[in-house]
Amino acid sequence: MPSTHDKPADQITDRPDGSPVPPSPPAPIPLGVITTCGIALLIAAGILGNIDPLFDYQATFRPGYVRKPAPGDTDGGPPPQEALAAYITQGAKIYATKCITCHGPEAKGDGSNFPPLAGSKWAIGETQRFSMIILNGLRGPMSTGKTYAAGMPSQAQGLTPEGLAGVMTYVRNHFGNHTGDVVTVDMAKSALTLSAARPHTGQQVTSEELTNDHLKALPGHSILPQSPVNPITLTPVHIPKPTLP
Ligand code: HEC
Repeated sequence: MPSTHDKPADQITDRPDGSPVPPSPPAPIPLGVITTCGIALLIAAGILGNIDPLFDYQATFRPGYVRKPAPGDTDGGPPPQEALAAYITQGAKIYATKCITCHGPEAKGDGSNFPPLAGSKWAIGETQRFSMIILNGLRGPMSTGKTYAAGMPSQAQGLTPEGLAGVMTYVRNHFGNHTGDVVTVDMAKSALTLSAARPHTGQQVTSEELTNDHLKALPGHSILPQSPVNPITLTPVHIPKPTLP
């Protein structure tokens, strides 16, 4: 019987003692081959990315696409804004449509027929008194004791709670006024309810009624000036804190 040493290596089936020879492990892939394949793949991907729209971000991206809010996400609305800034932005628009013609662009009045709101004690004082003036108008005397002949007509028409809250916050924090607080939509809703329940509905408020019935803060939820709100609805936005793993 010929010795196993005479056979080529790949024909050796058994060791001299008869035990089977374990199969030799596959030869490692040479580094050069891996590198070459890698480069080839990169080139192919580059070409595909340029010619095939399936691989092209711009072509697969739908214009105007807005992602759906994830669970626990904010309400999916516009990016939140700081409350004071958001209220002031909306309030400035209401002022420009409802108040500017009489009180003037700088809220300085006109010196004869209309009083200033810059520095007005009744604008920066108790919020309920201020809201009753806007919703019902005012028959003088006003805060300084002076009476303006025409009086102020009610500004309630078309005024939403958001508009009322905005214009009050704006006047209280602009024109050199600086209360630093937000009159919230919730407080403005209270103002509308209180105004509708006045015994003199439909008549302008007087300084007497203001002092007797409305020398207080409007009831309702308050908001910290820097807390985030939806800039359209002015309602608070809950921003979830990132949870640590
Ligand atoms: C048509 C003119 C007119 C418009 C519009 C008007 N006001 Fe007046 N407002 C007056 C007049 C006049 C007075 C003084 C009333 C009086 O003496 O009887 C007054 C008084 C006030 C006062 C009292 C000021 C004080 O110090 O006593 C406040 C506050 C006020 N207005 C806020 C507003 C706001 C806010 C708006 C817009 C939402 C507005 N007014 C729109 C004419 C107007």
